[in-house]
Amino acid sequence: MSRILLILLNILVSSSSYIVIFWGRPADYTGVTTNSAENYTACCEACANLTNCSAIYFYRSCYLYNYSDIYAIEILNNTKTEIAGFQKCSDGTFWNITGPCPRDWYLSARSDTDWCMQVFDGKAINYSSSVTYCKINYAAVLSGVSTAKERTYVLDNSHKLYTGAQKTVIIDGLLNNNCTVLMSQKNKNGTCSWPKSYFFNDKYITNYEFYTFSNGNPDAYYSNGEYQQAIIMYSFNGQPQDGIFDDTMLSANAEMLVCGKLATIVGE
Ligand SMILES: *[C@@H]1O[C@H](CO)[C@@H](O)[C@H](O)[C@H]1NC(C)=O
Ligand SMILES: *[C@@H]1O[C@H](CO)[C@@H](O)[C@H](O)[C@H]1NC(C)=O
Ligand SMILES: *[C@@H]1O[C@H](CO)[C@@H](O)[C@H](O)[C@H]1NC(C)=O
Ligand SMILES: *[C@@H]1O[C@H](CO)[C@@H](O)[C@H](O)[C@H]1NC(C)=O
Ligand SMILES: *[C@@H]1O[C@H](CO)[C@@H](O)[C@H](O)[C@H]1NC(C)=O
Ligand SMILES: *[C@@H]1O[C@H](CO)[C@@H](O)[C@H](O)[C@H]1NC(C)=O
Ligand SMILES: *[C@@H]1O[C@H](CO)[C@@H](O)[C@H](O)[C@H]1NC(C)=O
Ligand SMILES: *[C@@H]1O[C@H](CO)[C@@H](O)[C@H](O)[C@H]1NC(C)=O
Ligand SMILES: *[C@@H]1O[C@H](CO)[C@@H](O)[C@H](O)[C@H]1NC(C)=O
Repeated sequence: MSRILLILLNILVSSSSYIVIFWGRPADYTGVTTNSAENYTACCEACANLTNCSAIYFYRSCYLYNYSDIYAIEILNNTKTEIAGFQKCSDGTFWNITGPCPRDWYLSARSDTDWCMQVFDGKAINYSSSVTYCKINYAAVLSGVSTAKERTYVLDNSHKLYTGAQKTVIIDGLLNNNCTVLMSQKNKNGTCSWPKSYFFNDKYITNYEFYTFSNGNPDAYYSNGEYQQAIIMYSFNGQPQDGIFDDTMLSANAEMLVCGKLATIVGE
């Protein structure tokens, strides 16, 4: 991310929008509109005049976009022969440019960063295989949920993958080994607790309240010769426990998992 910040050339602040300019171009997008503006400044102004424009790219011509329609940005070198500007105008909130999400990934505006998520069909996959799955296929991590919208996204998309009831989704979170016994004793003295006694692959969770555990959970319950150290969300379409979180054994298989990563910049 620091490299991306280094290439910021300018930050213009107007009454209604923050405009972050850097050298680069949209590399994957839909829904571009061309505009007759003849230079970068006029192009930006044209965008600012439209309610549905949140990004521009100027290279010989002016191109207007809805930032949601851009899936990847390619960063270019700052040279005079390759003048290309990409600009994101957001309405009042500065958020670091990390790039958008690839197609089919969900973009979540977390308080610290933009975060891309997708629910995958893992068929029958446990915690450690989920961590590996995200890493090798998408250079991503097992994702947590940090907002109500993320939780809704995960639940809705799990229903799309499996319409029937009684499915589960692996969500990030791993109970430290030294806390299994304490948690299973209902955390009597507070030595071990959620979420402080958990390890997270997802380093950008800022709010843990959207892990909607049922009462008394997570408890690291001991079953089948193992403490429950992993976390799942119930995808119980049409049943009361739909969307409830629980802990489970590291050996337990879920149908689905959620991967997450910072938004993409091509060519970094
Ligand atoms: C930029 O282009 C606009 C028209 O698109 C023109 O009116 C303006 O003079 C140009 N500005 C510069 C600095 O060339
Ligand atoms: C943007 O709107 C302002 C105010 O209505 C207008 O003066 C200006 O010409 C517009 N600029 C472009 C590029 O459309
Ligand atoms: C941008 O695109 C998204 C997704 O298609 C849409 O939900 C949103 O309303 C659009 N925003 C504007 C300002 O047009
Ligand atoms: C904004 O809306 C207008 C009118 O519906 C449309 O022609 C244009 O393509 C849209 N621009 C963007 C950047 O989505
Ligand atoms: C940018 O410059 C570096 C070093 O000069 C070069 O290796 C790299 O390929 C260039 N990148 C692009 C996108 O042109
Ligand atoms: C965003 O940028 C600000 C200012 O440079 C920095 O303090 C903050 O740590 C950055 N956030 C992330 C998630 O990188
Ligand atoms: C468990 O281990 C973690 C990581 O080494 C440590 O930070 C924590 O204090 C330990 N907790 C207890 C209850 O020993
Ligand atoms: C907390 O409870 C656990 C299990 O009952 C015990 O092993 C540990 O010593 C207690 N720690 C404190 C600080 O009381
Ligand atoms: C998780 O699944 C993998 C692949 O099937 C297996 O090798 C591994 O032993 C499993 N982990 C546990 C804790 O059961």
